[in-house]
Amino acid sequence: MINLTLEILRRNAPDDSPHWESYDYSTQDENANVATALTELNHTLKNPVRWECSCLQKKCGACAMVINNRPRLACDTPLKDFKDSVKIEPLRKFPVIADLIVDRSILFENLKIMKLWFGEDAKTNGSQTAYEASRCLQCGCCLEICPNFFAGGDFSGMAAMIPAARLLTALPESQKKEIFKAYQKHVYEGCGKSLACRNVCPAGIEIDKLLVHSNAVAVWKRKFKHDK
Ligand code: SF4
Ligand code: SF4
Ligand code: FES
Repeated sequence: MINLTLEILRRNAPDDSPHWESYDYSTQDENANVATALTELNHTLKNPVRWECSCLQKKCGACAMVINNRPRLACDTPLKDFKDSVKIEPLRKFPVIADLIVDRSILFENLKIMKLWFGEDAKTNGSQTAYEASRCLQCGCCLEICPNFFAGGDFSGMAAMIPAARLLTALPESQKKEIFKAYQKHVYEGCGKSLACRNVCPAGIEIDKLLVHSNAVAVWKRKFKHDK
């Protein structure tokens, strides 16, 4: 049996002051996770907690939030990890829309600025780098933990480096050059390389390896055997 107090940082609208609310939650399901708890809790509330989810299988990134001060996916955070209580907040690097829902559009705007938005004609060559990069959920957990990222700043973080790694592997040489300058400005120059982001990535992406690869291609202009 799991018995927990869920402490949730709530607000009804973007301009509201946030406030903590506590809810008792129990379940006999030893495999229950934070997404389960939020779903079941909402069945009992007049003013349900707003939060996002889609796949519930750690594949879409929609349920990213700060859980006990760590950015995590609600659907991949077992309740049995916690004793007595758990604190649940929205990601802090993005504007809050309501409760646990944030506006992560900056993440996609940054991809557009860096010309990393996958066009219909973008093809990958099936390399290990492209495969690893394709696992990015665009959840924003790496941005949440990064001391150098803030919305609207020049540094776009690992959520932009990962798609860059994919395209730097997949695109023909002539098209890669378009990305080099943007990569230097929006990724390379801003990253302190502490790799705190690697430890929170819920997809377990080998961020360090992709970063080394992308820096080598985009900044040092090295070619890798499997690149086109
Ligand atoms: S690199 Fe990991 S933490 Fe960052 S957006 Fe992609 S999946 Fe999320
Ligand atoms: S390595 Fe450090 S500075 Fe670079 S993106 Fe990750 S957390 Fe941010
Ligand atoms: S709901 Fe898709 S990752 Fe959690």
